[in-house]
Amino acid sequence: MYGFRSLKLSLRFVVPLVVTLGLLAFAVVPLVDKLNLHWFIRDMDIRSRLIANTLHDPLVELLQQGNKAKINSLLLRYSRDERLLALGYCSDRGELLYRTPTFPKSISCSSAADINTESSKIIQLPEGAVNLATHPVVLEGGTAGLLILVHDTSFMERRSADTRHYIILLFIVLGIVTSLVTVFVAHLSWRGWMEGVRAMLKGEGLLKPFSVQGVNSELQPLVSDLKTLMRSLDAERRLADDSSITWSPETLRKLLHKQLTGEKVIVVSNREPYIHTKKEHGEIEVHRPASGLVTAVEPVMRACSGTWIAHGSGSADRETVDANARVMVPPDKPEYNLRRIWLTKEEEDGYYYGFSNEGFWPLCHIAHVRPVFRTSDWEQYVKINQRFADAVIAEADSENPIVLVQDYHFALLPGMIRRLLPKAIIITFWHIPWPNPESFGICPWREELLKGMLGSTIIGFHTPYHCKNFLETVDRYLETRIEHESSTISRRGQLTMVENYPISIQWPPPWQGMVPPVEHTRSEIVAELGLPEGHLLGIGVDRMDYTKGILERFNAVERMLELHPELVGHFTFIQIAAPSRSALEEYQAFEARLRGLDKRINQRFSRDGVPVIILKAEHHESDQVNRYYRAAQVCMVTSLHDGMNLVAKEFVASRDDERGVLVLSQFTGAANELYEALIVNPYHVEQTAEALYHGLTMPEYEQQERMRSMRTQVRDFNVFRWAGRMLLDAARVRQREKLAARIGRES
Ligand code: F6P
Repeated sequence: MYGFRSLKLSLRFVVPLVVTLGLLAFAVVPLVDKLNLHWFIRDMDIRSRLIANTLHDPLVELLQQGNKAKINSLLLRYSRDERLLALGYCSDRGELLYRTPTFPKSISCSSAADINTESSKIIQLPEGAVNLATHPVVLEGGTAGLLILVHDTSFMERRSADTRHYIILLFIVLGIVTSLVTVFVAHLSWRGWMEGVRAMLKGEGLLKPFSVQGVNSELQPLVSDLKTLMRSLDAERRLADDSSITWSPETLRKLLHKQLTGEKVIVVSNREPYIHTKKEHGEIEVHRPASGLVTAVEPVMRACSGTWIAHGSGSADRETVDANARVMVPPDKPEYNLRRIWLTKEEEDGYYYGFSNEGFWPLCHIAHVRPVFRTSDWEQYVKINQRFADAVIAEADSENPIVLVQDYHFALLPGMIRRLLPKAIIITFWHIPWPNPESFGICPWREELLKGMLGSTIIGFHTPYHCKNFLETVDRYLETRIEHESSTISRRGQLTMVENYPISIQWPPPWQGMVPPVEHTRSEIVAELGLPEGHLLGIGVDRMDYTKGILERFNAVERMLELHPELVGHFTFIQIAAPSRSALEEYQAFEARLRGLDKRINQRFSRDGVPVIILKAEHHESDQVNRYYRAAQVCMVTSLHDGMNLVAKEFVASRDDERGVLVLSQFTGAANELYEALIVNPYHVEQTAEALYHGLTMPEYEQQERMRSMRTQVRDFNVFRWAGRMLLDAARVRQREKLAARIGRES
């Protein structure tokens, strides 16, 4: 097996190498031929001149004596040279007076140059190519003649052919030797790798085989990544069913009972999973907010039970809770407690709108909106974090609960909880990007925020890149010890692990097997929107937020119609934009710009009442959104910067027909996982426009291949696995702490 793999590996090098050498040989041979010819002619000229000079004086003497016999014998003697074919002498009247017997008949004095000049040229005779050189001979008394030297050039042909053969042979030998060395080295490396991985699987450690080969230090980071991966895969496999590694709510429950002895789970987030609102006539309705956080965490909470603490923001929230501000949810099948925290308008303005969304949000999303930091907002932020911390303490029924802190609204919370519950497992998950240290440094309270976060047992980000930024930020602004190999930060005896846990969605999706076929839904939606039959649809689903790249998306739709006018009147883009943070000026300005752009594009490209863009700036429940996902040919996610973006994964999950194309911004965490999407830079309008066009015209077989692969990814890395991985890591940290405490007691 080694042999076969390493052979395959080496073939990847050998084939291009052989092709390159072949091409080189092909280019080099004519070049060398040309050079050879040039050198030969130069040598022959030098030689002709030498012979002519040597012959000149005796020839002049014999010519003056008129001694024909001696002249003939002189010429004959010199023409015995191997390469000199013949010699002749022309008078100044152009008569060939003397010639050796080998002198070609087809050469006459008129073929030679001017009698007074030296010349040399290659001429083609019936017998073959020869070099014809002439040299003036000056007699006393002023009369002149011309000595003609005819050189055989056939040896040049022979030499060229020999050189060609040698060069080709040289390239062949070079090719064989390089290929052998490549195959040999590849074989050795492959063996080393395989032995290393095997040793690790056997628990012997990877370093031994590598260190034997002396490449230990270069591969060290890779080795530790591999070790971590193997450890977590191993733990995950042990928890999931033996037959498969698909994570389910059941796997999560098992994990809580086995690894964490059934500790109570407390989730803390700003946004609540169920909002009760009062309608016009006083009836109360409940809805799920448009929030990636809620989409991901809610199924986890249903699996784990426990308490979810969140801001009660609905107009009927107070009416639907008990005396302790608790209500069991989901309303139709209660499984966990929702504990609501009340905020005054002033507190909400400062903590949520102000510090969180005018400060932190633009600070972490590099999307060209300046962060604003006010002391009054900061004070509210500190105060509300403390209020949530108090609620956590009140909800905890042991000294070591598992607290899942969600997002940038609660950077101080981990530290506050840790002070009162030192043994708690605090897992903080950051749902948005983490910027580089310079950008983060803008925040006047950067040290306080970082210290607060380091109260966590684990801090999770979506991508390794965000983890790296965070570690560098801590390194820049705090006194800590950072272990890069284990990705841990140690500060004042508190150890925090920083890991990437790409968030995901529930799999299988809750509606699976309960919705009509895609074709049916598509016809329904097209009819509902008053569009012609067979009309092409694009879909975008976001909160009304400047980071989502909705303006850029509309521009791309417009550009696509400019570039492909045949689609005008045959394509409509539906944009669902859930109202969000609309109390903030920046969000109001964004909405106004979006509406303006929507209007302009529609005026330009709508035909016969068929709009190009349908902007639905209102809340949609998840089943409604799902219908649009299923009806559309293309889904566009063009965020300018996004932690993960679960719309991308929801679209993929919705397409059980294995059709539909995802156009996905390279600036989303999802782009690290969904490689088969059409990945775009949303700032590049033509690229995004062409991706949209490509999506609308993509052959079905290609759609299927791409979609199938993305569905496998979302299925295998679902949200239960996301939560499970964090809980497993937390269990490991707790284990380590227990061990350390025992060792401390015994020593
Ligand atoms: O994606 C970041 C995030 O804050 C999520 O945590 C949340 O789901 C979403 O934005 C919605 O924001 P908000 O809760 O402010 O409406």
